[in-house]
Amino acid sequence: PLSTQDDVAATLVQDHNLPTYAIKGEDQATYYSHLQAVLNTRPQFTMDDGCDLVHMLHTEKQGLLKGVFGGTEETTTGVVRLRAMVKKNALKYPVIAVNEAMTKHFFDNRYGTGQSTLDGIMRATNLLFAGSTVVVAGYGWCGKGVSMRAKGMGAQVVVTEIDHIRALEAIMDGFRVMTMEEAAKIGDIFITVTGNKHVLRREHFAVMKDGAVIANAGHFNVEIDIPALAKNAVARQIVREFVEGFRLKDGRTLFLIADGRLVNLSAAEGHSASVMDMSFANQALAAEYLVKNRGKMKKEVYNVPENIDREIARLKLAALGISVDHLTDEQKSYMDTWEEGT
Ligand code: NAI
Repeated sequence: PLSTQDDVAATLVQDHNLPTYAIKGEDQATYYSHLQAVLNTRPQFTMDDGCDLVHMLHTEKQGLLKGVFGGTEETTTGVVRLRAMVKKNALKYPVIAVNEAMTKHFFDNRYGTGQSTLDGIMRATNLLFAGSTVVVAGYGWCGKGVSMRAKGMGAQVVVTEIDHIRALEAIMDGFRVMTMEEAAKIGDIFITVTGNKHVLRREHFAVMKDGAVIANAGHFNVEIDIPALAKNAVARQIVREFVEGFRLKDGRTLFLIADGRLVNLSAAEGHSASVMDMSFANQALAAEYLVKNRGKMKKEVYNVPENIDREIARLKLAALGISVDHLTDEQKSYMDTWEEGT
């Protein structure tokens, strides 16, 4: 609801004659009516980001399913939902998980989200990261990027995780790891990037410092339990565009950015074109692959074929004017044989 850029939507309609259903700031009902409007065009192919459209197609719009031969999914959360559908035999056409391509999540999720999340928080608040304690919930691809960039800005970064391996990675990358229960007490800025629900909730709000800033760059608007925050507030005030203060009974005020929706899309402009080019190349080439293999694929979630992924990396490097070395014949045969020894 907050991620549309209205000028972009307008140019798609006016200059490219593409029916477009999106308005920045639309409410939940309008958001769903727009998904319906998209499906009413009877698509043969879906290119989704978060799986809401695919979900609607498989529930209230099932009648349209027979016309659809394939689809792609952009983000981590959408892929998780699609895999859950496959487990229950609910998915009715093949979908390529663009997110799983190396040339997508290594770069878009890490460097794109890393930069644009900080950009969103800075534009919304004009706070100084240097010297502040930033708590990052989730050390996945997005969390790594956000933590790395916050550290680069001079913040002390604390990571919270549920996965032991990811927690260890965070430790060895030089961050402090603790539970959210502990981190809630010391954070100045909280950023959720878990893909999960209610990662920040009542017991955390109860111990946060006065003036703490809370933002989400992960999953829709569910990572922060906003109803719980609202329930405990005696007053709410929009203090700047995209910044809402929740004054609690004990006098503390917590600041929620962009209604808890993806802060980088709401308060900034999302990722730079120079990282989205790889994600969208994956989208385009995955779509082409599905068209070429129409009727031959199962109703499953597929990864982007590795040759496509590698070709995108090659093209991106070529676009940057960077060359890499090639194996010599001697090296090739060394790598291919097991007899040679050291
Ligand atoms: P990921 O799966 O690599 O990482 C998520 C991490 O969160 C995992 O390490 C997991 O163990 C951890 N986690 C789960 N529940 C947790 C909890 N309760 N507390 C602490 N940690 C928890 O996923 P990735 O690629 O980093 O994506 C994260 C979210 O960001 C997804 O919802 C994805 O759709 C979204 N995303 C947002 C973008 C944006 O532009 N804002 C761009 C790309 C992805």
